[in-house]
Amino acid sequence: MNFNPNKIIALNSASFVIYLLFSSCYGGGSHSNCKIQNKLAGKEAIVEAQSQSKLRSEFLQVLRSRRPTQVPLTVKPAKPVKNPLYQMPPPTREEIEILDSTPKADIGNLEELLEEENLYLNIEKGEQGRLPVMILKLKRSNKQRKKPVVVFLHSSYTNKESMRPFLKAYASRGYIAISVDSRYHGERATNTTTYIDALISAWKTGETMPFIYDTVWDLIKLADYLTQRRDIDLSRIGITGISLGGMHAWFAAVADTRYAVVVPLIGVQGFRWAIDNDKWQGRVDSIKPLFEVARADLGKGAIDKEVVEKVWSRIAPGLASQFDSPYSVPTIAPRALLIVNANLELKHLLECWEL
Ligand SMILES: *[C@@H]1O[C@H](CO)[C@@H](O)[C@H](O)[C@H]1NC(C)=O
Repeated sequence: MNFNPNKIIALNSASFVIYLLFSSCYGGGSHSNCKIQNKLAGKEAIVEAQSQSKLRSEFLQVLRSRRPTQVPLTVKPAKPVKNPLYQMPPPTREEIEILDSTPKADIGNLEELLEEENLYLNIEKGEQGRLPVMILKLKRSNKQRKKPVVVFLHSSYTNKESMRPFLKAYASRGYIAISVDSRYHGERATNTTTYIDALISAWKTGETMPFIYDTVWDLIKLADYLTQRRDIDLSRIGITGISLGGMHAWFAAVADTRYAVVVPLIGVQGFRWAIDNDKWQGRVDSIKPLFEVARADLGKGAIDKEVVEKVWSRIAPGLASQFDSPYSVPTIAPRALLIVNANLELKHLLECWEL
């Protein structure tokens, strides 16, 4: 599902179902309720923790398997992007107005109170090895107090700048609000086919993981950077995102326990379930040229479940098997997780999880 302000409005409306999973352990990182639950569970909790860390280390092994040479993390200042690249029609004036109406704390002239930081994190060699980061926060807030963080991730074909209205809303409430360009998006793209080109190249060569995984690696590096900052409450780093950004939030939390609160919006799904139940069309349509190339390479007349399965296992190994949502989502417990999905997607998810 792509960036579409109407969907964002719908996210806030009653026609969407909010499904709350596992125990919510909010409250300044004390996790008191969770501790009690874990203690009561005893031996079972230990077995659960072991299987969580097993899946996590297997997932990290896959993420590390196709990495260019790593470099020590360095930070470079950057300039705000004036005309961010969209690899789809950019939002219309009306859509921008709707996004800008996102409710904010009433604290006077917000524009004057906000401070924007732009920077690049150098994380690895290669043309994608530089992670562009945008941070919005209040200028004149209590410098002594460490602030909570919300990382808000963009959808397919858009960019970190498209998240600015949401970053402003969080910043107005005292959060340090952060967005990044995903791999092959925004400043990491050169034209309107960069993301699709990268997906096709990954299918052809098997050398990169442009769908979800490489960006998850970036988000681990982002967490490394956040731990170096003095102004951040490290026990209160939340991560959220829309669609592709929701998938990034989900898998970043699987890979890295420093993400303490996790809210994927229309991102969590069952990749295996979709193949087995012939419900893969929506996901395939969002990156169709990739599947067309794979279909042709496999000598098929139409995209079918075999094409879908082969593409996932080549460009995102494990996505439709051991790292799929029934196995990876439980590794987020006992951290707080809120999954927001549309009605139909929610129905599919519940069937997939046999709930
Ligand atoms: C986009 O850039 C790539 C790499 O420079 C190039 O191969 C491709 O033809 C370009 N596509 C378009 C639509 O300009």
